[in-house]
Amino acid sequence: MAKYNVFDCTMVELDKHHSDRKGNLTVVENGDSSTASGQGTLPFDVKRVYYLYDVPGGENRGSHAHRDLSQLIIAASGSFRVTLDDGKCKRSFFLNRPYQGLYVKPGMWRDLEDFSSGAVCMVLASEVYQAEDYIRDYDEFIKFRNEE
Ligand code: TYD
Repeated sequence: MAKYNVFDCTMVELDKHHSDRKGNLTVVENGDSSTASGQGTLPFDVKRVYYLYDVPGGENRGSHAHRDLSQLIIAASGSFRVTLDDGKCKRSFFLNRPYQGLYVKPGMWRDLEDFSSGAVCMVLASEVYQAEDYIRDYDEFIKFRNEE
């Protein structure tokens, strides 16, 4: 499979419906060329959603890579920082808007930190949970990145 780099991972602007009186609503949907408006459509189909919350101040999450998984990471509430590493370059993103998502392509080491109080990190994932898709050892990750 093609190896992506951190510059292939970008912030995606999501569909936002604003009402002065009633707040905001954001839509994310699987791609369907017949209905796609463009903005709310994901570049992959979602098979799993999970969310992190009640992360104590000063604690980090992540510290792993996925071999094949694509993800969209959204700060559904509050804020946190995501640092992506492709083995050569690192790129850091501050997530603090529920209408933006960070599109993380496969093969990125990621660290999540600086969680604000009440932060909710919602992750839309392209696959169901597979423990064997994880790389949790950084040296193994570098080896994986250097494989043909
Ligand atoms: P993990 O992915 O290591 O969390 P983080 O990288 O955010 O620190 O997952 C923590 C635990 O939850 C681990 O025991 C695996 C389990 N888990 C599932 O069972 N299903 C899932 O979809 C996810 C994401 C994690």
